[in-house]
Amino acid sequence: MYYRFPITRPRRLRSSRVIRNMVSETSLSPSNLVLPIFVKDEGSIEQINSMPGQYRYPIGDELIKAINDAVESGVRAFLLFGVTKSKDPLGSLAYDKNGPVPKALRLLKENFGDSIILMTDVCLCDYTEHGHCGVVEYRDPVQVTQTTSQPKYVVNNDATISIYAKIAVNYAEAGANVVAPSGMMDGQVKAIREALDNNGFTDVIIMSYSSKYASTFYGPFREAADSAPRFGDRRSYQMDPRNAYEALKEVSMDLEEGADIVMVKPAMPYLDVIRLVKQHYPEVPLAAYQVSGEYSMIKAAALNGWLNEKMAVIESLIAIKRAGANIIITYYAKEASRWINEVE
Ligand code: PBG
Ligand code: ZN
Repeated sequence: MYYRFPITRPRRLRSSRVIRNMVSETSLSPSNLVLPIFVKDEGSIEQINSMPGQYRYPIGDELIKAINDAVESGVRAFLLFGVTKSKDPLGSLAYDKNGPVPKALRLLKENFGDSIILMTDVCLCDYTEHGHCGVVEYRDPVQVTQTTSQPKYVVNNDATISIYAKIAVNYAEAGANVVAPSGMMDGQVKAIREALDNNGFTDVIIMSYSSKYASTFYGPFREAADSAPRFGDRRSYQMDPRNAYEALKEVSMDLEEGADIVMVKPAMPYLDVIRLVKQHYPEVPLAAYQVSGEYSMIKAAALNGWLNEKMAVIESLIAIKRAGANIIITYYAKEASRWINEVE
């Protein structure tokens, strides 16, 4: 064995800050971070109850200021989500050029140009009245009884992906640099890539939520975006938390369909999946999403004085990078960008 006490003393390499920095395996930079932003089509700015410190912004000066503050801290990438009360069965506001997201894209492009990266979540749940991520078809109630295992509704995959394609083109036209399909429909990346290319958007990047798990940690987000399913759950399309290797199938399909960046979501409870995907596809940029529930847990403990927020956030982000993520989507992006240098 190479390592034997007392010749080997691991503590030698931990004895001072400069030595620790020199031998560190992982580093975190603001350029790795993406800040999610909720934009709404009416009313005034509101704090999100379950996510203290996060807001829903109307399209206007407060949104510009929020982006500007983040930019001053070093954040360069933003992931936009639309919030609206104008919902319908097909989520048609998602592919309306006057929806909240295209409006925000135009405003931010005008104000920030190419100095920032604008990403948009491509899904339907923020815009559908039933809150599902796709087109819902109801089964004939006569055939569906309590005693059968047949579901009362299904989310139609192929009808949904053609709508996602329209949404992606809508966002690209308004200036999105990156589109990020999050609905976990089969073939969604292929449908979006084809539509983007056919409309001349060959340079718009696809960041696919490739392995997105059916997670209870999305709870606060669903309050923020008013996007909780009104019936049922998302387990017929999002991944089963019991499966790790299945992520490799999802990632492989997405890459074949044209994804430029793949994602694992949530992040902290799925560090094993992040590591697995990175080991199998080291050459592919990998994003991890530290989701709303992860944010709210740290925030709640911090507000109670139960843990040091700054240290907890940086440690969690370092852990996600160490597991293999290149890009981290986090509601703490702005604060973390400032804290990175303070906790070294
Ligand atoms: C939309 C979407 C969700 C999140 C990102 N895009 C919610 C969901 O799937 O229910 C979750 C983000 C978070 O919890 O921070 N499909
Ligand atoms: Zn959705």
